[in-house]
Amino acid sequence: MSDPNDLAAFLDLGWQRLTRGVADRRAAARHPVFATVSPDGLPEARTVVLRAASRSTGSVEVHTDGGSDKITSLRANPHAQLMIWDEKAKLQIRLSTTVTVHQGPEVADKWQTVPDGSRMAYGASPKPGTPIPNAHAYEKLASRDWFTVLSCRIDKIELMQLVEPHRRAVFQASDAWQGEWRVP
Ligand SMILES: Cc1cc2nc3c(=O)[nH]c(=O)nc-3n(C[C@H](O)[C@H](O)[C@H](O)COP(=O)(O)O)c2cc1C
Repeated sequence: MSDPNDLAAFLDLGWQRLTRGVADRRAAARHPVFATVSPDGLPEARTVVLRAASRSTGSVEVHTDGGSDKITSLRANPHAQLMIWDEKAKLQIRLSTTVTVHQGPEVADKWQTVPDGSRMAYGASPKPGTPIPNAHAYEKLASRDWFTVLSCRIDKIELMQLVEPHRRAVFQASDAWQGEWRVP
C-alpha cells in the first residue's frame, strides 16, 4: 500500500490519469470541461477533447474553431480552467491555466495531422453560435483558416480524491510543483 501522504506520488497519479486522456478515447481525461470567463465576466463551461498533455512543459492543448465564442472570451481574459472527473481513480483534476491562441501558419503542421473526418469541426458558416431559422441552416467549412490551437500553460493543479478518507492537494508551477495538502 503506497503512502497516502506522499504528495509527489499523488501528483504522479494526476499526470498519469491526465496523459491517458490523450491516447485513450475512453479515458475520463479525454473530455475535460473547459471553462472560461466571458467578456461580461460570466462563467462559460463546455466539453472539449484533450489533444495533448505534457508534464515536461506543464501544458495541455485543445483544438477549436476560431469563430467560436471562447476565442472572444480568451482574448479578453486568457485564464481557463479544465476540469476532469475520473470515476475509475475517484479523482477530480482541476487545471488552472493561461491560454495562448495559435492560428494560421503557426498551426499549419498540426492541421496536416487532423484526420479528414475531424476537419469539419473547424470553420462554420455562419459562425458558431449565430441564430439560424432551422436546425440545419449552416455549413461546415473544414477550413484550415479557422483551425485554432489553444496552448494552455498550467499554473496550478488541484487534485481531490474521493477515497476514504478524502484527500485534496494543490500544486503550483510557482513553487516548482512541490504541492500542499488542503482540507477536502
Ligand atoms: C464530447 C464533446 C467533445 C467536444 N470537443 C470539442 C473540442 O475539442 N473543441 C471545441 O471547440 N468544442 C468541442 N465540443 C463542443 C463544445 O462543447 C462547445 O459546444 C463548442 O465549442 C462551442 O462553445 P463556445 O460557444 O462556448 O465557444 C465538444 C462537445 C462535446 C459534446
